Amino acid sequence: MVARGRAVVILEFEVRPSRSPMPDVERRSILAAPVFGQAFTDHMITLRWDDERGWHDGRLEEYQNISLPPTASVFHYGQEVFEGMKAYRQPDGSVALFRPERNAARFNASAQRLAMPELPVETFVQAVELLVRQERHWVPDGAGTSLYLRPFMIATQPTLGFTLPSRSYLFCVVASPASAYFSTRTGPPALTVWLSEEYARAAPGGTGAAKAGGNYAAAFLAQRQAVEQGCDQVVWLDAAEHTWVEEMGGMNLCFVQQPAGGGPATLMTPALTGTLLPGVTRDSLLQLAARLGLGCEEGRLSVSQWRKHCEEGLITEVFACGTAAVIAPVGHVRGAGGGWTIGDGSPGPVTLRLRDELLGIQYGRTTDELRWMRKVC
Ligand code: COI
Repeated sequence: MVARGRAVVILEFEVRPSRSPMPDVERRSILAAPVFGQAFTDHMITLRWDDERGWHDGRLEEYQNISLPPTASVFHYGQEVFEGMKAYRQPDGSVALFRPERNAARFNASAQRLAMPELPVETFVQAVELLVRQERHWVPDGAGTSLYLRPFMIATQPTLGFTLPSRSYLFCVVASPASAYFSTRTGPPALTVWLSEEYARAAPGGTGAAKAGGNYAAAFLAQRQAVEQGCDQVVWLDAAEHTWVEEMGGMNLCFVQQPAGGGPATLMTPALTGTLLPGVTRDSLLQLAARLGLGCEEGRLSVSQWRKHCEEGLITEVFACGTAAVIAPVGHVRGAGGGWTIGDGSPGPVTLRLRDELLGIQYGRTTDELRWMRKVC
């Protein structure tokens, strides 16, 4: 098949529906109050790659355990990449994905960094759509809920050799009904964050821009430290100087800055220096902010500037953003050298406005002028 002068790869997926899907009653009870990452749907997608056949054996099959030899490369050298995306119930009952081709492109950038095979964008989207169509009755319709999709790829070659990357891989997509990652009955809570000055998430030349499991594995210790300090999430600083603010947990950070001379606020987010994850939500919010008449800047901010600018009223709001979290306001910052409050410590008007705009598009409440939504079924 050819589209816009370019060959489009369409792979066949064999469809093998589950013989024992979850009974309706049980599924409905999960959908009534879904908890992020706890329950999984009846099916999954699997697709294999090896260096002789390329991509092959695509299937939609029953959600089940994966059987691998204990020597599969992923268990030893951590060759794994993943994505996070969501399918949203629309007002007319249909289901739509948000910018799925952006996730496909980032998946390939991650795969490329970890010396793994790339998956044609069309095949990635085709696989995700096939699963969403099969699991359409698993898409919840409560406020702030969605079907969270987790495409991932692992290295499966049974080898302990560390000369060349694995010669075989498994691509998989699983789905999980979800509510917002951080939520209260009255809206998003303001988080308290811990500045990690001891550990670093990513160094120049490393894998920080890839959505690779190893980055998250290396983050647990600092995240646990944050929780021990009474905080919700860790904030990462740059690895070289431990000075420049990079990310929060597994999400990007945004700062609402007020210009000294008055005028519209600016949405500032740390620039993609190669050590940060290029978030799809981050990119979407920069575009929405510009359309709302805010200034937009991809810059850099030190911890001391962050504190000083909050004290001077130049930074009035801070929030984290990502697919799972959507927009999570940050109210308080703590670190070894003390802490401070952002604004009055509660979610600010720019944060809430941007959140409303984004959710409005995702849930089909506002016109999708940027054509970000892709109707699936
Ligand atoms: C996402 O936002 O989709 C992520 O992968 C972040 C993860 C920490 C839940």
